[in-house]
Amino acid sequence: MAEIVRDKALEALNTFGVPAFARYYAVFADRRQLDELFSMPETEGLPWYVLGGGSNVLFTGDYEGLMLQPVGKRMEAVEESGETVSVRAEAGVVWDDFVRFCVERGYGGVENLSGIPGSVGAAPVQNVGAYGAEAKDVIREVEIYLPQERTVRMLRREECAFGYRDSVFKRELKGRAIVLSVTFELSRMPVFRLGYGDLVQEVERLGGASPENVRRAVISIRNAKLPDPAVLGNSGSFFKNPVVAPEAAERLKARYPEMPSYPAPGGVKLAAGWLIDRAGWKGRREGRVGVHDRQALVLVNHGGAAGSEVLELARRIVADVAEKFGVELELEVNVL
Ligand code: EPU
Repeated sequence: MAEIVRDKALEALNTFGVPAFARYYAVFADRRQLDELFSMPETEGLPWYVLGGGSNVLFTGDYEGLMLQPVGKRMEAVEESGETVSVRAEAGVVWDDFVRFCVERGYGGVENLSGIPGSVGAAPVQNVGAYGAEAKDVIREVEIYLPQERTVRMLRREECAFGYRDSVFKRELKGRAIVLSVTFELSRMPVFRLGYGDLVQEVERLGGASPENVRRAVISIRNAKLPDPAVLGNSGSFFKNPVVAPEAAERLKARYPEMPSYPAPGGVKLAAGWLIDRAGWKGRREGRVGVHDRQALVLVNHGGAAGSEVLELARRIVADVAEKFGVELELEVNVL
């Protein structure tokens, strides 16, 4: 039986650790429970939001709707053919438990995505990525529930319109689809992607490329740069890396030859962390919030901050970067 809780405290359910309440809150494990929840009179006409691990969201006030959290944790290899193994994981599986599951069995393809906080259900929504890999590279299909129609649909990778931290779930299907499970396609003979930053050196130091060693290397690089949300509230990268027109990138390169830039669909991708760092924000603290001292893309809660204080800091950073570099930063985190 699905059950609705009123006035649920969200402070422990978001990695920024900011206080907020959800007017209604419910967990679900499968489509039957979603059917029940969306048939209840309290939920009629209410907005809803799916909270995964709470690692990509900033609450700036109470949520006056239905906050849903997936708790289904089943994970299994569903098909093997030749080198390819398909693994289906329910939305409530902790992302890194899924990565560990694959690495332990020698299934390659997600080892670069080790250590990312959050849940499997969120992975296709923002097409999580790190160290030269993205979830879209390994997603075969996504099973979704459509509350309006009370139906379940299977979307193939091509139907998900994946882009950099982007998908159909953030666009046409925003507010219309709830991820139930994701089926991934892994390989027993993986081709490792070690081209990003210091990854190759770290993997060599550990004894050469294997899913296990890439996982260990990625986790050690992440730990060196990214704050642990259990210690310092944060939500990973607060901003997306901006893609600008080639001419704009060239103008900036002429002024700052050392500026990192990468070719990207639609133009040139710049490093938001570099821009924020260069604008002088890295490590800056303003009251209870601040910019992380080892990665300027990460905003942190030094303790007791409200979400609105984090957002205020983000707005000042966006305005300053726009003034200094003429580049408009977009938020990566969902602000509620
Ligand atoms: N840089 C600086 N100063 C900083 C931060 C970065 O100069 O404070 C420079 C770096 O030296 C490097 C470039 O900017 O030349 C890029 O930095 P980094 O390799 O750390 O990666 P990023 O582009 O800042 C992205 C993802 C991260 C992911 C890393 C590693 C986004 C928004 N962020 O960061 O993802 O872990 O690459 O692949 O794409 C997340 O999404 O929450 C996240 C942490």
